[in-house]
Amino acid sequence: MVKSRFVFEHLPPEVTLYEVGPRDGLQNESRMVPTEDKVRLIDALSETGLRAIEITSFVNPKWIPQLADGGQVSRQILRKPGVTYSALVPNRQGLDAAIAAGMREVAVFMSASETHNKKNVNKTIGQTLAAFRDTVPPALAAGLRVRAYVSTVYGCPYEGAVDPAKALELCRALKALGCYQVSLGDTIGVANPRQTRDVLGRVLAEIPAPEVAVHFHDTRGTALANILVAVEMGITTVDAALGGLGGCPYAPGASGNVSTEDVVYMLEGMGVRTGIDLDRLVDCARLASTLVGHEVPSKYYRAAIGARSRVTGG
Ligand code: HMG
Ligand code: MG
Repeated sequence: MVKSRFVFEHLPPEVTLYEVGPRDGLQNESRMVPTEDKVRLIDALSETGLRAIEITSFVNPKWIPQLADGGQVSRQILRKPGVTYSALVPNRQGLDAAIAAGMREVAVFMSASETHNKKNVNKTIGQTLAAFRDTVPPALAAGLRVRAYVSTVYGCPYEGAVDPAKALELCRALKALGCYQVSLGDTIGVANPRQTRDVLGRVLAEIPAPEVAVHFHDTRGTALANILVAVEMGITTVDAALGGLGGCPYAPGASGNVSTEDVVYMLEGMGVRTGIDLDRLVDCARLASTLVGHEVPSKYYRAAIGARSRVTGG
């Protein structure tokens, strides 16, 4: 008998999917989705069993015009009990707008590479951390929870390779500021499972697994493999976007996030609970596809839609 060294004996019983489609997905679309359609999409997502949805960002609308209506979206969605709604904020101005619009959780964001950080938020890494000192403590004082992202952990579109030690260094700084969780971003989808194990091995040696999340874009098809490694290492929060939408406008070539449907299908099939109703999620991905005006890349979605049309003869 062949002896397997990969026995899936360390899988957690449950994983939380952090849905970023309404933010990471829509920020990257050329079509402007009207506010009421965003609200319809988020309200539908709230009925899928998702426990966390990132609904928008409060950034400079000249930089991300697609999400210029963040305040209206936040005011108009139906907040389902048990679901966390979050929004990106880059600075104090964004935080104040988020609080005024009723947000109870926000996420700050920065990069592990200087060039991407500068292109994305017009600041050095040091200046960004300084701006967070004016953002995170006031958010906590106002009773909000603050999450954080570190982008380009596995590679930068401008600088190429990124030192794997950077992730832990920035996690330490963001944890010290009071962020409850740091999501490690493979912004341009270059990571492989060995790199994932390397970066997470360093981070998890010091930071408890519930305080770390993973955020893989699936540009080169390695996201699910990386997520499997991460989950086996104890990660229990996985970011994903319905339909596999997504990308960072300041990271050329970055395409969609791993699709929420694909992650749910893989994890549930392996006995890891997500609490998400896949059929309802497919309905949401279909709605998103209509709203953005093109097919979405999610594999499970395509299979499910294909199976539905065979059953109905459509
Ligand atoms: P800046 O130009 O350096 O800002 O931009 P500033 O402080 O010099 O102010 C200039 C103008 O911006 C002023 O307006 C401010 O009021 C305005 P003006 O006087 O010229 O009319 N401003 C704002 N307006 C609205 N909301 C705000 C705000 N702050 C300043 N919060 C800034 C700096 C950070 C604002 C800008 O660079 C920006 O908005 N960047 C956003 C970039 C972005 O959203 N990128 C995508 C999200 S990150 C991502 O996708 C990665 C992730 O998914 C993880 C991964 O995949 O790795 C999270
Ligand atoms: Mg992203």
